[in-house]
Amino acid sequence: MLPHLDTSPFPAPSADEQAHSAELGARIRDEIRQHGSIPFWRFMELALYAPGLGYYSAGKTKFGAAGDFITAPELGSLFARCVARACAPVLRASGDAEFIEVGGGSGAFAVAALAEWEQLGCLPQRYRILDRSAELRDRQRAALAAKLPHLLERIDWPDTPPETPWRGVLFANEVIDALPVHRFVMREREPREVHVALADDGRFIEVEREADAMLIAAVAALQRDLEEPLAEGYRSEVLPQLPWWIDAVCGRLEAGLAVFVDYGYPRREYYLPQRDDGTLICHYHHRAHGDALRWPGLQDITSFVDFTALALAGTHARLPLAGFNSQAAFLLAAGILDLVEQALDLSEIERYRLAQEVKRLTLPGEMGERFKLMCFARGVDRVPEPFTRHDQSRRL
Ligand SMILES: C[S@@+](CC[C@H](N)C(=O)[O-])C[C@H]1O[C@@H](n2cnc3c(N)ncnc32)[C@H](O)[C@@H]1O
Repeated sequence: MLPHLDTSPFPAPSADEQAHSAELGARIRDEIRQHGSIPFWRFMELALYAPGLGYYSAGKTKFGAAGDFITAPELGSLFARCVARACAPVLRASGDAEFIEVGGGSGAFAVAALAEWEQLGCLPQRYRILDRSAELRDRQRAALAAKLPHLLERIDWPDTPPETPWRGVLFANEVIDALPVHRFVMREREPREVHVALADDGRFIEVEREADAMLIAAVAALQRDLEEPLAEGYRSEVLPQLPWWIDAVCGRLEAGLAVFVDYGYPRREYYLPQRDDGTLICHYHHRAHGDALRWPGLQDITSFVDFTALALAGTHARLPLAGFNSQAAFLLAAGILDLVEQALDLSEIERYRLAQEVKRLTLPGEMGERFKLMCFARGVDRVPEPFTRHDQSRRL
């Protein structure tokens, strides 16, 4: 996701968009009235995933220039082709290898990766897309039907992660940043949970409530890795449910890789004293801002990933960590520059476009360093080198 591409004033939502947001707002208000307040994570869950109304569940464009943000697979095919090439040895190693993509977005990654494997002669036996959004599943199906109709029969959209042992690769780009986070604020050395309540005029407002045992334990655990305790008034986010989520999506992987790409930091950088208002960020028509309570259903809400927490969640699911590096280091090791050099029959404009894509994917000020790639491996003889070269796991 590339934030802050446009600094001009917010475009006002259309009348239809306002009506949509008002409907979702009414749904959230009902729930708040029942309970007095709801934890922020529940507000985020409804704002993003309320059936038929949430940002990811309804029909908003979301991805690309006409949407709210751009992800690596939306920039062009290079990102997906590099991932496909890096995973090829693992797919070749077993006759029944599957590739599971979590959070398939517009389907752009699936189209480019499958086309690459077809060319390399190592298509996975099955390509499965696990996506929480029914609307996006339809969009993915339409994209694949239009671009690769002859491969449709090997693609499916299961409702749940595999419940029996399987082999292959699980891959998720920018999914963990979209999981609903618990927001907390430190008061007298203990976390209080940020909730959403209603002001007298019906506006959503943030209030502080007693934290439950899970949040208290999660904040205590993360503080053990910090040099100093979090200061009074420090606000941030945490994902206490991450170990269970990771176990649910890839706990049954018998042999293969689980690869996660996202923006984020190792824990000590995530909870830096000066990052005292957390990492939560909203995207609306390529503007980035911090007001998550505005226009529910019309904007993306996301937060950075604590990669130390992700590494620990892998350990919890008995998945050995195989590599942690920047997106730039991974793409260069996976041969992104070779792919550009091999593209001989392109017009000058297409070459320029490809060069721009490489820059956006790899430059430090773009996605190159902000995005990291974490790879877990179980039961594989040799983890492909792009996942392990320039390993930075000592920073975790
Ligand atoms: C920011 S988008 C990224 C999409 C795509 N991977 C890309 O890079 O363009 C997040 C995606 O994750 C999906 N998603 C969010 N939470 C999920 C969950 N718990 N399980 C499966 N998919 C989820 C969303 O519906 C959406 O497709």
